[in-house]
Amino acid sequence: MIPEPAPTVRELLAFYLEAGVDCALAEEPIDRLAEIDAPPPSARTAPLEAPRPVAAPAVIRGEAAPAPDVAIASAREAARTAPTLEALRELMQTFEGCALKHTATRLVFADGNPKARIMFVGEAPGRDEDIEGLPFVGRSGKLLDLMMGAIGLNRTTAYIANVIPWRPPGNRTPTPQETQICLPFIQRQIELVNPDVLVTLGNPSTQTLLGTREGIMRTRGRWFDYDTGARTIRALPTFHPAYLLRSPSYKRLAWQDLRAVAKVLSG
Ligand code: URA
Repeated sequence: MIPEPAPTVRELLAFYLEAGVDCALAEEPIDRLAEIDAPPPSARTAPLEAPRPVAAPAVIRGEAAPAPDVAIASAREAARTAPTLEALRELMQTFEGCALKHTATRLVFADGNPKARIMFVGEAPGRDEDIEGLPFVGRSGKLLDLMMGAIGLNRTTAYIANVIPWRPPGNRTPTPQETQICLPFIQRQIELVNPDVLVTLGNPSTQTLLGTREGIMRTRGRWFDYDTGARTIRALPTFHPAYLLRSPSYKRLAWQDLRAVAKVLSG
């Protein structure tokens, strides 16, 4: 058999890009396979250390990631106690329970007017958002700006956030655990902004926030009640702008959804 020629650097990079690997997380490569055989850090550094008490604070800077249920409980407790959006942002900056934080460049908290009557919620930041620290600033963000503009809205009259505030590496889909860990934060954010209308952009945001099981084709354009605990907000799912960029024929339906939003806001 004739051996395959070794791939060029360009070919390797193209392969990684296609596989969703579009950023380096560290300066040096890490051999994760070698780590599997190595003893855990506690055994290497402190063999006689007493076991930790079960009730020790689970989400501490520098500690290994906590179990998902511990992280979810910790996120709920933290989010519940945030009295303002600024306090919530600070709390999320120091929260260590979501592994995405360690691969993202920065927290992408929100953009727009916290006093707005309308709030748009997407799925998770992408590369451009991770660089700028603001939601929806890339290609799909430009389309969202146009969509808002079509009904007379912009970033001074609307508030924009994501269910997940840290970019998943390579823009992969967030895991169900990551989504559940981040959910209390976006729920509290919605409660604190307290808009009259909530627009969920795309399926993940819709299913996570509105508890729907059907796909966006069935849920878009239908009004739902979103209960903050203190108040019921009218919520409308519509297509994610990234989806509209790929399937422009659905812009017609998105336009219908936007008109429904405008009608509620003016009523
Ligand atoms: N897609 C999202 O869901 N959110 C962003 O902020 C950008 C792209």
